[in-house]
Amino acid sequence: MSTIEASVFQCALLGWYDVHARALPWRVPPGSQARPDPYRIWLSEIMLQQTVVATVKDYFYKFTTRWPTVEALAQAPEEDVFAAWAGLGYYARARNLVACARQVVARGGFPDTEEELRTLPGIGPYTAAAVASIAFGRPSVVVDGNVERVMARLFAVETPMPDAKRDLARHAASLTPVHRPGDHAQALMDLGATICRPTSALCLACPVRPFCKAAGHSPERLPRKRKKAPKPERVGTAWWLTHGPDVLLVTRPAKGLLGGMRALPASDFLTTPPSAAIPPAAADWTQLPRPVSHIFTHFRLTLIVMAADISGSPRPDGLWHSVTDIENAGLPTLFAKAARLAMATKWSTK
Ligand code: ADE
Repeated sequence: MSTIEASVFQCALLGWYDVHARALPWRVPPGSQARPDPYRIWLSEIMLQQTVVATVKDYFYKFTTRWPTVEALAQAPEEDVFAAWAGLGYYARARNLVACARQVVARGGFPDTEEELRTLPGIGPYTAAAVASIAFGRPSVVVDGNVERVMARLFAVETPMPDAKRDLARHAASLTPVHRPGDHAQALMDLGATICRPTSALCLACPVRPFCKAAGHSPERLPRKRKKAPKPERVGTAWWLTHGPDVLLVTRPAKGLLGGMRALPASDFLTTPPSAAIPPAAADWTQLPRPVSHIFTHFRLTLIVMAADISGSPRPDGLWHSVTDIENAGLPTLFAKAARLAMATKWSTK
């Protein structure tokens, strides 16, 4: 695209965004004189990595109500933040979130350049560009999955992903304006989410259709994907141990999968079934009739759930949590599923 075409493209896109921007709780409306709050932009971008907008909204309200500023978040105990994050997934993000808030406060506020933002915990190239652009008006090139899809179609890039990434970023750079770069970035994301959709593109409603090489040529086939290798399978065991109205929980080790999160006691998750997983107490264990299935980034897990009640015996020391309040225990989704299964299954004749 020539420089002049790129300016016409930017005008068409921003004109559409001025009317059709999604109202999102961290956004300032397009064209507004108000400055976006870097804390809210950063928090939303961390939450939006790997998580859809609809889910993020609720968590964003919860976090900003409880911790309205980066200073408040920096002072929060890690366990509280982990528990509030439960259900959002990718829990390393929660650990980095607290670490980042503390560094930001220690240095006196968010840095306003992409380079400095990248040095902070949990801020990778995408998030640094997004925060620099949206919060600080820098002409950074912001490329997420939506933007990649839009670029692949606009420029009819036939190279399959992920090999196409460099080309797609180059195209995105060629269109990034100096004027309103944050609105431009968000307009491309909104275009990708609402018009240039993965499986049913609404080309007739697209403000940049005249620029698009794929419109009318089955745009949904782009970006092309290489076949993914299937995820490896792993198995593990978790134990639902009750004593009267309470159930035994643990805090997982800080390092590793679901690090630092509340959990049910569980074995390691291995590719071969553990021959003898060691339960947290001697009891008359019943295996629940079906396991829990869960998909992590790098493997699929089948989790066998064992249940027992030891109301008749002395209660061992540990982190006991009321069964009826288990939804508020801050369990990540895997263990919340196991807890729901144990509560919904008649596994004991006591
Ligand atoms: N996805 C990630 N960041 C976004 C934003 N600021 N607006 C819309 N979608 C997004």
